[in-house]
Amino acid sequence: MTQEHKRLRSVVKGVGSALPKRCVSNRELEREVDTTDEWIVQRTGIEQRYIAGDDETTSTLGAAAARAALATADCLAEDIDLIICATSTPDYTFPSAATMIQADLGITKGVAFDVQAVCAGFVFAVATADKFLTSGSHKRALVIGAETFSRILDWRDRTTCVLFGDGAGAIVLEAQEAQAAEGTAADRGVLTSQLRSDGRHRAKLYVDGGPSTTQTTGHLRMEGKEVFRFAVGQVTDVMREAFAATGTTADDLDWFVPHQANRRIIDASAQKLGIAPGKVVTTVQFHGNTSAASIPLALSVACADGRIKRGDLVMIEAIGGGFTWGAVIIRW
Ligand code: UT7
Repeated sequence: MTQEHKRLRSVVKGVGSALPKRCVSNRELEREVDTTDEWIVQRTGIEQRYIAGDDETTSTLGAAAARAALATADCLAEDIDLIICATSTPDYTFPSAATMIQADLGITKGVAFDVQAVCAGFVFAVATADKFLTSGSHKRALVIGAETFSRILDWRDRTTCVLFGDGAGAIVLEAQEAQAAEGTAADRGVLTSQLRSDGRHRAKLYVDGGPSTTQTTGHLRMEGKEVFRFAVGQVTDVMREAFAATGTTADDLDWFVPHQANRRIIDASAQKLGIAPGKVVTTVQFHGNTSAASIPLALSVACADGRIKRGDLVMIEAIGGGFTWGAVIIRW
């Protein structure tokens, strides 16, 4: 008799995060930048952000978040055979932040690499890890979003420097058999990932330096209004496709955990999709925009305070430079 082969799912085992020691309020920024607490709160919802000190880097924050995720997953570093770090602000041009985190954790087996999709990086990294785990090639993954955007900000440009912050978040994913051979939306784990990119929008959000052009790190440049328009106008396509791929609707969702760039973008996206305000996890007020770290930081907050529980249906969604954008539905 042939044995039934059940499909594999990437199940979330743990989540953790790490923030720099220094927290900077809007009021504190007012002293350095021609801005006001009122403007920042009204336009973005941001109240404070964390800024990395000299002894804190993307990889040290990423490793701290990874350790916290391993602890909640009740998992040892040696059980991990795949590390994917989403970042646009690695410690060095190379090696990858992921290999630095791997060494920091004392892991000597498996594979570690970075994914670069700017603010959509964590969504892209989860989707990538899911492909590895559900193929059967790897068993347990650390998926990390870690950034030090403070290092690429132009502190003389008030239209961008007040928006971003530093931090890291991580989840542990484990390949587990689905309940039924073909898999259903009742399974725990990643149920679908929908990713998109369109490089024609490059000039709306970019860094004006790099190894192959200026040989400098460069500074972040953004046409905020254009990014805002795209984020609210276009990005819901991947969310609709994620619902269609899983046969679920906004009503079935327990939690919507979008990229944390701007409260107005988050609220408008949720409203457009018919997601009830009570299901939206918003942490932009605490962290600012931490790019690829924002979703795992938000997941970490909502798991720690008991909102996200085992069995809940969770959608993560983000848009970043490129543009790159995507949505993933996970049964927690
Ligand atoms: O992570 C993915 C990428 N990022 C985003 O998703 C960000 C998307 N964009 C946004 O969140 C918003 O467009 C911003 C928060 C960046 C800007 O909000 P806005 O409502 O689009 O404002 P605006 O750019 O139209 O600026 C309005 C005014 C301008 O003054 P005038 O020309 O009306 O006199 C700006 O000079 O606000 C002024 N302004 C500021 N004032 C005080 C711009 N930055 C500041 C500031 N403090 N920091």
